[in-house]
Amino acid sequence: MSAKREKVADQRIYPNKKMKKTLLIKNGTVITASDNYKADIYIEDENVHAIGKNLNFNADKTIDANGMYVFPGGIDPHTHMELPFMGTYASDSFESGTLAGLHGGTTTIIDFAIQTQGKSLREALDSWHKKADGNAVSDYAFHMGVTDYNKYTQKEIKDICENDGIFSFKVFMAYKGALMVDDRQIIGLMKEAGKYGGMVISHCENGDMIDELVSEAKAEGNLTPRYHYLTRPEIAETEATGRIIDIAYQGGHPLYIVHLTCEGALNRVREATKRNQKISVETCIQYLLLDESLYESPSFEGSKWVMSPPLRKEKDRIALWNGINQGLLHTVATDHCPFCMDQKKMGINDFSKIPNGIPGIEHRMELLFSEGVLKNKISLNKFVELTSTNAAKIFGMFPQKGTIAPGSDADIVIFDPNVNHTISAKTHHHNCDYSAFEGWKINGKCKTIILRGTVAIENGQALIEKGFGRYIKRSAYNKKYLTKEEINSNYSRHCEEAQNADAAI
Ligand code: URP
Ligand code: ZN
Ligand code: ZN
Repeated sequence: MSAKREKVADQRIYPNKKMKKTLLIKNGTVITASDNYKADIYIEDENVHAIGKNLNFNADKTIDANGMYVFPGGIDPHTHMELPFMGTYASDSFESGTLAGLHGGTTTIIDFAIQTQGKSLREALDSWHKKADGNAVSDYAFHMGVTDYNKYTQKEIKDICENDGIFSFKVFMAYKGALMVDDRQIIGLMKEAGKYGGMVISHCENGDMIDELVSEAKAEGNLTPRYHYLTRPEIAETEATGRIIDIAYQGGHPLYIVHLTCEGALNRVREATKRNQKISVETCIQYLLLDESLYESPSFEGSKWVMSPPLRKEKDRIALWNGINQGLLHTVATDHCPFCMDQKKMGINDFSKIPNGIPGIEHRMELLFSEGVLKNKISLNKFVELTSTNAAKIFGMFPQKGTIAPGSDADIVIFDPNVNHTISAKTHHHNCDYSAFEGWKINGKCKTIILRGTVAIENGQALIEKGFGRYIKRSAYNKKYLTKEEINSNYSRHCEEAQNADAAI
């Protein structure tokens, strides 16, 4: 009897039995942060149920993954959907941005709910939920962006950790007058968040140094996009990175640095490890692959890559790839924050008015595979660490997310290493009229993407709709991740539920 007819017959005989949705992935090469083996994966409802050789389950759907890699779903820990910024909004909504991410294997994002100065953290969080809930296609979590730390916001931290499951609090050391906080505020926030297992995460650039350089450039009539790069020098990032590392060290606090771009800042991280300080560090795919020569592009083209911090030199790209293998960099994100060319043109006569940010979420994983794994810069296991596992561990989602294991959410990418394609704005799913990687040739493609046991994307076709994405509450930073006992008890509960369902027959 076919699986479908069997299911119908089963329902007739046992009308009270709640049927589980099942999926079997056969013969794939499973890659996690630590393992590499050929196996079948059996999924019941939203979770991985069993992994093994020649599994003999009768599933609703079977996918043949022979010749494919099977990766944990990607986690992009740094995105800005619909961010209100520099007089406009990032052009991807939670719907369009998470769908683009899913096409490229990213099943979970962590976006930034950013406080407006003078308003509460709760207002920001409510407003981000309004944008995301019922719209996101992939799963999503939030970091809390704190732009105005004061005695009122201090009182909100406990509730946000304990009730909203948000334990990461972002500060901006640049963008004075809009987002930037001072050192005293950073110290206060580190202390308060630390009480509840929270952690400060930081955009490291010296805002005052930059503002002075921007004023000088404008006074001299230097207004083209290249001056965005020239007024945000490496030293501005290096100084701020070193400063916040020292602040965290003095208070004994954890720290995560977002979008680290350059050798100088990396060396501040390296120095900190010599005194046994542990810092988690993110870079972004664009900083590994692109460089500042793009700001020399003719006419206004350079505005496409106006982001902060800016693209750096070739020597910085080399330092970042080495930093990955030296264990100094832990995640590769995108800082996905797209603006269409009409929006970029707000700064046609003044580089300081070009909205900062680029699109990228759709191609993060494929680019890192093609340029990193296939060019022998990183191993397959490192690829999984950087794109998924480390973000899940650092941000309190492991092992629900970030791996393929019994009991984990069945967030899975079936990846075909033999399909070649070319990135173009004509074919991407970003709501943006250009691509930062236009014309890049990629070897390898995300073929089938599974989100919590449901096939979300198959051969480029989306099979789920807006609102499928779920808000993920996270656990405390200092809780690290679930203990072996907790994992076992989760798994036993999972098995018990399965047995109870069978016993009800
Ligand atoms: O240029 C960027 N990175 N735009 C988004 C805001 C930020 O600094 O992360
Ligand atoms: Zn930033
Ligand atoms: Zn950002």
